[in-house]
Amino acid sequence: MTKLGGFRKKNIAVFISGTGSNFKNLHKFSLKKNTRFKINLLVCNNKKAKGLIHAKKFKIKTTVINYQNKNKAEKKILYSLKKNKIELICLAGFMKILSKNFIKIFNRKIINIHPSLLPKYKGLNTHEKVIKNNDKFSGCTVHYVNSKLDTGKIILQKKVKVLKNDNPEKLAKRVLKQEHFLYPKALNKVLINL
Ligand code: GAR
Repeated sequence: MTKLGGFRKKNIAVFISGTGSNFKNLHKFSLKKNTRFKINLLVCNNKKAKGLIHAKKFKIKTTVINYQNKNKAEKKILYSLKKNKIELICLAGFMKILSKNFIKIFNRKIINIHPSLLPKYKGLNTHEKVIKNNDKFSGCTVHYVNSKLDTGKIILQKKVKVLKNDNPEKLAKRVLKQEHFLYPKALNKVLINL
């Protein structure tokens, strides 16, 4: 058990599908004294995901899941979450949609980071949509996960200005940079009340 000024660091699992820069960043924060979480498990649906390399390097447990059968995949994940005493799930670039049943089991214990200012631009290709609509601002949102995609209660948001010569790639890069500030902050906020 890790104690912190009277607090016990909570066990979290991070779910990823690819690069895992948010995962890496959360891990970096988890090692600081005043953060309220530690990463006990990385769940990943893609055995080639870059994020797995970081987990291996730092000896973070991983559960790599083949998602061909969603029901089976979620059963395996639930088993792993239980085994590792996970108290909160952080989705960080996890490109699978969790079932209603799964979300019900972890009711209000799953949060997600999304690269837009929700409720604008749910789903995929957010940066393309922002640019196409000539929006002045984009940004990122950390929110609770409920059974409707990207509609759960918002925890924190950060605005990012759209520049004149932006394209989706450039904008994505600047938004991602802000995600790295926002996610640990939002996570600590959630954990104060957990
Ligand atoms: C991040 O921009 C995250 O907000 C987005 O995927 C990227 C993952 O980057 N998530 C979604 O689009 C979920 N709908 P990362 O793997 O480097 O953390």
